[in-house]
Amino acid sequence: MGLYLDSADVDDARTAQELGFIEGVTTNPALIARTGRAPLEVLADLVEIVDGNVFYQLTSPTLEQRLDEAWEAYGIRPDRVVLKVPTTTENLSLVAELAHDIECAMTAIFSPAQAYMAVQAGARYVIPYVSRATRLLGDGPGLVRAIRDVLSGSEVEIIAASIESPDEAIDAVRAGAHHLTMPLQVIMAMGEHELSQQTIAEFAASWETK
Ligand code: G3P
Repeated sequence: MGLYLDSADVDDARTAQELGFIEGVTTNPALIARTGRAPLEVLADLVEIVDGNVFYQLTSPTLEQRLDEAWEAYGIRPDRVVLKVPTTTENLSLVAELAHDIECAMTAIFSPAQAYMAVQAGARYVIPYVSRATRLLGDGPGLVRAIRDVLSGSEVEIIAASIESPDEAIDAVRAGAHHLTMPLQVIMAMGEHELSQQTIAEFAASWETK
């Protein structure tokens, strides 16, 4: 059960790495665009900052260009770069070609059928978008549950993404997600509860008045 940071920001990556227990970082083109930097430069920085895997999403417009982009990204750190590939029929073929040599995660998954196809293509991970699925289809955790059913008997693992709150994160875990990827603010909120703060304050007060 791994926890990933969903960000392309190097400061976020440093903060998350300092926690000492994140599994790695997932990026996407929108997150990289926010940095204003070249995608492969961001990837090179992230693999230096975190100890774990860094997921890089292929964005080139043609299949042939995405294949070249895949090898270029992989070459930056072969032992720790995982390719994120948006799920389409064309990209299933791309994953089938790459998966023997490079770990691939099929992303932007909105149906159990897509997860089934990702397994057939040789993906190592499937990435359903929980919050978006709740917003657009009605039940993000239900999507995760259905995908977990479909994966039964395979070694493919679910990384639940598009997580906007601690409650949504835990709903995804309870629905069967093997891993979570979340923005830094959600990660930092997960370990806090106002009643814990209140209890800590009570303990401190008792100690001071003993
Ligand atoms: O990185 C993929 C995913 O987490 C996107 O999330 O917030 O754009 O739905 P969001």
